[in-house]
This record gives sequence, structure tokens and C-alpha cells, in this order.
Amino acid sequence: MSKVKELGYVVYEVGDLPDWEHFGVELLGMQIGERTGDGFTLRTDEKAHRWIITGGPADDLVATGYEVADDAALDELVGRLRDAGIEVTEGGDALAAARKVERIFTTADPMGNRVELVTGLADAATPFRSAKLLGGFVTGAGGAGHQVLLAHGVSRETYLGFYIDLLGFKVSDIIIEELSPGVVADLIFLHCNGRHHTVAFGDLPSPKSSHHFMVEVTDIRDVGMAYDRCLDAKQPFEMTLGMHPNDHMFSFYVRTPSGFSVEYGWGGLIIDDETWEVKTLDKLNSWGHRPPEVVAGLYAAALTPHEEAAR
Ligand SMILES: [Fe+2]
Repeated sequence: MSKVKELGYVVYEVGDLPDWEHFGVELLGMQIGERTGDGFTLRTDEKAHRWIITGGPADDLVATGYEVADDAALDELVGRLRDAGIEVTEGGDALAAARKVERIFTTADPMGNRVELVTGLADAATPFRSAKLLGGFVTGAGGAGHQVLLAHGVSRETYLGFYIDLLGFKVSDIIIEELSPGVVADLIFLHCNGRHHTVAFGDLPSPKSSHHFMVEVTDIRDVGMAYDRCLDAKQPFEMTLGMHPNDHMFSFYVRTPSGFSVEYGWGGLIIDDETWEVKTLDKLNSWGHRPPEVVAGLYAAALTPHEEAAR
């Protein structure tokens, strides 16, 4: 069955373009791809772009580009979606040029998230170079990273019907944790290549489409250095350093200027469908990933009166 091969790019619509440029380049260590008429693009590897940032009021994810292996696979995938009664539109030359892909079709998932099915995401004319990283970002066969999207009350059966039965994703695992009495996080993680998950879904308390996007680095020191850059810039954190029990990602979560988060990680698990067993886990975190208020409270409690006065 033809299927999605990898997450190629995401498109965000953001209210504060200069703050986003600072966030992407100076804090995360990405590289500007190009200036566009309504924003800019960001690179994390040899590809022309991985994040397309456009100015606008949404402050949210507005599209995800999923790459398919070749023309035949794309045609088969589009046919399967249409046979299932799902509207799919050919993107046209202008959109293909803006996304720097060979072919593009657009559709929407059951939550209304715009999905772009593409072939041939172009390479940039120059090698990738980060002004901040010691190593690089982990992309390649695992695609640009992973993202966690909000289900917003759409049933799991409905969105899995789209992502598994039509796009060809497979379940990696499920995590169900009671965070506090009556408040249960229930996330399902899906993969389309060796990366443990490319997309996950859950009902979390957020009005956004996106909870977070994860970028992974090759050198663990770059996680610590990005953490320091975000601290120094007083960029709000969502979670401190920690690790997930399913994909083993060592990471922290920092808020983007649009309010949703970026997970900045290292060491994510690569899985093999031949041997992988789907499990249901009962913890989102093996350790860490604490709310930043815990650390802020400890620092505040440790300050001497002199330091307090100097703040
Ligand atoms: Fe994540």
C-alpha cells in the first residue's frame, strides 16, 4: 500500500515575525532559508526549508507537508482518499513553487488540519550551516521531526481512519496517565518510518491545532546549549529537561512566540516494524519534564536577601 514516507515540512502562521526569526535562528539554531513575500523559511538540513513561517493572526500550525515516495505512490494515495469520499485538491504550480516540491495535493484531516501530500521536496543551493549548533539536526529518513496535534473531541476511531487506513501510518504506542484526579492524558503515537513517531494525537487543554513540534539534534551538548540560550533570552518554558518512556527522547519544551511549544531533543528511538511491539504505557515521562514553576520556586527560595534585592 502506498503511504506517507516522512514529514517534510510544516507551515506556521505567526503574529510576530521578528520574534519568530530570533526564536528559530538564535535560540533553536536553525538557518534562514529565504525571505518570502509574507515571512521567511527555516532550514534544519540540506532541504530548502523545513519550517515555512508566514505572517498572520492564527499563531498556529496551518499546514503539514507529508512526502510520498514517488508519482505513482502519490497518485495511488490521492485515489484512495477520494474513494473514501475525502476532498483532495491539486495544489497547482504556484503552490508547488512556494513549497519547493515537484507535485502537491491538499486535503484536510478530520480535525480540519490542512494536509499537503507532496513529492520531491527540493534541496537548498547551499549546504546547511547553523550559527549555533555543534552538530546538526536529525532528519534524513525520519523526516523533519515529529508533532503532537490536538484531537479537539474528534474520536480516535475517526482520526485513525484517516491517518492509518488512508495515509498508511502505524501505531507506535499509547500513553494514558492520570495527571490529577479526573484529568487524564491519553495520547496515541503513530509512525511512518523508523522515527518512533512522526505524529501523535490527544485531547489536551489547548485551543491550538499543535501542541508541539519536536526537532532532534545529533549532539547532546546542543540540547543543553539551546536550553541555556532559551533561559538567557527568558523564553518561556513549558517543561524542564526530561525523558519520555516511549521514544526515549532526552528533551525540554520551550514555548514558541505563538504559544504552542517546541520540544528540543536528542537520542530518539528508531524502531523496526519487524520487531516492534505496540504497548500501552502509564507515564508520559520517565523523569523530568517538570513544570518550570518548580525550578523557579527553588531558585527563589535559594536566593539570599542580597541576591533578591539585586534581581
Ligand atoms: Fe514530542
